[in-house]
Amino acid sequence: MTKHVGILTAGGDTPGLNAAIRAVGKACRGKDMQIIGFLDGFRGLMQNRMIRMDDKALSGILTVGGTILGTSRDKPHKMPVGDKTLDMTGVMLETYKKHHLDVLVCLGGGGTQKNAYRLVQTGMNIITLPKTIDNDVSMTDVTFGFDTALGIATEAIDRLHSTAHSHHRIIVVELMGHNTGWLALGAGVAGGADVILIPEIPYDTEIVAEAIRQRSRAGKRFSIVAVSEGAMSRETAVAMQEAIDAKDSAERKDDKNAAKEVIDYLEKQRANSTEELARKLEQLTGLESRITILGHVQRGGTPSAVDRLLATKLGTACAQYIEAGVFGVMVAAKGESYTAVPLEDLVGKRKVVPLDHPWIQSARLVDTCMGD
Ligand code: F6P
Repeated sequence: MTKHVGILTAGGDTPGLNAAIRAVGKACRGKDMQIIGFLDGFRGLMQNRMIRMDDKALSGILTVGGTILGTSRDKPHKMPVGDKTLDMTGVMLETYKKHHLDVLVCLGGGGTQKNAYRLVQTGMNIITLPKTIDNDVSMTDVTFGFDTALGIATEAIDRLHSTAHSHHRIIVVELMGHNTGWLALGAGVAGGADVILIPEIPYDTEIVAEAIRQRSRAGKRFSIVAVSEGAMSRETAVAMQEAIDAKDSAERKDDKNAAKEVIDYLEKQRANSTEELARKLEQLTGLESRITILGHVQRGGTPSAVDRLLATKLGTACAQYIEAGVFGVMVAAKGESYTAVPLEDLVGKRKVVPLDHPWIQSARLVDTCMGD
């Protein structure tokens, strides 16, 4: 009997999503399955907004950035509807049944894995693929989108070198990565940043300043500081932990206002930390500093060859799992191959950079200051 497959993309967009959609779609159609795509993530599933993934829809998209299906950060169980936030998982199950789906394929990062697992619990057959430029999804070697972002960020750091050098400045370049340092570390090492600051290693601003002063003494009157958006000074890390404890305690007491106050505080801390770091480094070293926030440039544009290959491998593997009736899993990258990991084993976990990771060791060996 012909299988009916649904597919959606959720969370932040990522280069390689269209390559994955194409791979799932073409491989499923090759196995005589029918496939439809829901628009704008879980919101489209709730609203039953979909398109048929025929040959025309699947053609010419391998090299295209973003996602042809659109995406959103809406969560099935906390969906903004009018002025309310509602649990819409039941409505999504109705859409699933309406289309007689045998499986729904969800392409996303850590949050999407969690949301997809919620749908598994309603009885839907789900398979996920891991995408994010942050590379922080657990139980997969790598996520698609990361390699492209790494290339873009590395090129940006390369380009910052000449201007920092010409003006004898410190350039603090902020990279994405959410609460993990994969992107800042990778691009920092590849781009030869003099300082790399990642969330996994809270930094001491004085140590960073001294590393820059030492460079000046050695006649190098500029420095590139690659900082992950989630990186924190040691003091902020302590304050953050206290705030998280306060939030947990407020939530236990059901004090929503107190918890919200703490969350606002945490967000403010994070938002200003790069500016604050640049200002302090300027004061401590006497060198002029500038900030570059790479932002969404890191997520835009055409996927790298590595990401196209990875997305195609995982997408075509996904079709094979569908054919075999393997559901409730994420198709993970494992070495040159792939594997199916039960969603229940990975949801709620984040893949952080291990402190003994070879990239950290190499960075230290080439005299890069890691802020500690
Ligand atoms: O998860 C991908 C990511 O780009 C993170 O690196 C970043 O923190 C976040 O998304 C930005 O999200 P948005 O595009 O919703 O502002």
